[in-house]
Amino acid sequence: RRGRVVVVGSANVDLVVDVPRHPGGGETILGGDLRRSPGGKGANQAVAAARAGGADTTFVGALGRDESGELLLASLDGAGVRTDLVGRTAAPTGTALITVSPDGENAIVVAPGANAHVRIGPEQAERIGAADVVLTQLEIPLDVVLAAGAARRPGAVLALNAAPSRDLPDAMWAAFDLLIVNEHEARDLAGEAADAAGAGAPVDPTSPADPAAPTDPVDAAEHLAATLLARVPAVVVTLGGAGCLVAQRGSAPVRLAAPRVDAVDTTGAGDTFCGVLAAALAGGSTLVDAARTASFAGALAVTRPGAQDAVPTADEVATFAHPEQQP
Ligand code: RIB
Ligand code: NA
Repeated sequence: RRGRVVVVGSANVDLVVDVPRHPGGGETILGGDLRRSPGGKGANQAVAAARAGGADTTFVGALGRDESGELLLASLDGAGVRTDLVGRTAAPTGTALITVSPDGENAIVVAPGANAHVRIGPEQAERIGAADVVLTQLEIPLDVVLAAGAARRPGAVLALNAAPSRDLPDAMWAAFDLLIVNEHEARDLAGEAADAAGAGAPVDPTSPADPAAPTDPVDAAEHLAATLLARVPAVVVTLGGAGCLVAQRGSAPVRLAAPRVDAVDTTGAGDTFCGVLAAALAGGSTLVDAARTASFAGALAVTRPGAQDAVPTADEVATFAHPEQQP
């Protein structure tokens, strides 16, 4: 079944430079040639849901009336994403300044621009109301994230990729059915959750200063996910090369290994994971099966430069996941 996904989120033009290492404060370093490519966590996830996940996907976001806006629209359209509900604003298209080190790790600063003007109007609300999965992130205003959640139909999944890390009001948590985070975001949110639980709760249960904290990354993720399950019924923690952890209330956590790949550029790999996960859930997969497919898509994305440009096709994901089944 081809599920229906609506991604509500950011779109950025990514200005990317390869660097020998990320600069520190007050430092200037020389990098490689400047690349300009389509990005933004929301748009990346929409491209992934459509191209790699095969879902009927709508992107709800905002672009400037500028050349960068055209670059983003061309990328979304090219992936088969519906762009009829994308707003155009006087503010410039969002821009991300990205450095990529030789191990493929990135450092990113986002100037939100038009992303501050995403709107959920009647048409957007209607499309959201017809979706099986609604996927959002935290590069747009929180009230827009909440308005998107409020527009979903009963039984649809509202998924939050809590990236980049931001403080969330306690009341906001109740809206989400699924949280997708990397290990850093998991740690930040678990700290908040422990704070809210009050009196004497450790602020950071896995801080290195805590001698009881697990040192294995998957053990640590399991520990954090257990804290987060108090607030949201299902949590997926992505762990890069260490795979991912799927935790759901009432069942034992499931650890999935990541396929081994040579990392070229990790930018947007987490977004590919989120988009494919949403598409698979919308198509009727269980959360664990969806996370398994998403891991293969995310691993392929790591082997290629760029964010949206690195998103594999559904066929490439299938071949990678099941090489034995190919003709
Ligand atoms: O997650 C990667 C993305 O983060 C980049 O494409 C950049 O635009 C920022 O939104
Ligand atoms: Na990539």
